[in-house]
Amino acid sequence: MSFNTALTRKLGIKVPVVQGGMQWVGYAELASAVSNAGGLGILTALTQPTPEDLRKEIRKCRTMTKNPFGVNLTLLPAMVPPDYGAYAQVIIDEGIKIVETAGNNPGPVINQLKKAGTIILHKCTTIRHAKSAAKLGVDFLSIDGFECAGHVGEHDITNFILLSRARQELKIPFIASGGFADGWGLAAALALGAEGINMGTRFMATVEAPIHNNIKEAIVNAEETDTALVLRRWKNTSRLFANKVTKDALEIEKNSTTGEFSEVAPFVSGKRGRQVFLNGDPDFGVWTAGQVIGLIHDIPTCQDLLARIEKEAIQATERNRSLYTQSKL
Ligand SMILES: Cc1cc2nc3c(=O)[nH]c(=O)nc-3n(C[C@H](O)[C@H](O)[C@H](O)COP(=O)(O)O)c2cc1C
Repeated sequence: MSFNTALTRKLGIKVPVVQGGMQWVGYAELASAVSNAGGLGILTALTQPTPEDLRKEIRKCRTMTKNPFGVNLTLLPAMVPPDYGAYAQVIIDEGIKIVETAGNNPGPVINQLKKAGTIILHKCTTIRHAKSAAKLGVDFLSIDGFECAGHVGEHDITNFILLSRARQELKIPFIASGGFADGWGLAAALALGAEGINMGTRFMATVEAPIHNNIKEAIVNAEETDTALVLRRWKNTSRLFANKVTKDALEIEKNSTTGEFSEVAPFVSGKRGRQVFLNGDPDFGVWTAGQVIGLIHDIPTCQDLLARIEKEAIQATERNRSLYTQSKL
């Protein structure tokens, strides 16, 4: 038995599970493993220093899977923004048919990709942003609840509310993102009206995730209380693994009298965060993880993980079916 949803049909995948874009994690090794396991693997464009490097990574991924895979393009505020248009052009030129967009002012990039016939999953944390993206013509919304890793937004609405609001308000299909690790979660998301789920943190703790094993172990050993929100003061709230650097950053955020971002910037540097995944020291810099960290207890292959999620989701759905009887009139 397998699931048949708007997501599986449109993307041509078997299991309604997407691996969300992940900076410094979303390389060909992981994306191809997820796609080979029947989900949708996604390369993260900005982990590649230039659009030409992205082209190479796409070509590499193609040699590792025959199944569909996508690319994430994240538009975040930056002093010197990357050339998003050039990354999008490489995505188009390389024949990528599925893109996950996220971040601010995605209009121009979405227009560029839509003109080329790309299927777009746009990730957002509010219904207002979801509606704007729907107007731009995206195919799916990826509704990212407050539980999620990374940029949680400024409204703190968890998925129990957000997904039902999506079901009530949106006229296009959506998937559920943030807080998912197993098939019980997938079944719950489907019950709330989603067409599938998007997972980030869970995929970090897989055999194929190209990060140091110590970080995978740190995820397995962590509890759901081991994340923290930083940068709220600057309206750029991020959920991070609650290590020493994160706690130091939070102290500065709370106590700074100037409120200058430059005071906290060295603590939240992406460069140090990247090193964490390479040197395996979970305290070397800040890194992103979601509250779902408390549900992750092992480091399976992507194949085993997705097979388990599918099986559990079917079990959970059957359990629910067994809880009611047809009334005999
Ligand atoms: C290490 C890490 C890096 C991430 N980097 C990005 C990114 O660059 N762009 C993006 O759109 N989302 C990014 N995310 C968010 C994921 O794509 C996904 O939306 C999120 O992890 C879902 O929440 P979950 O971790 O509870 O599954 C990242 C998540 C993690 C764990």
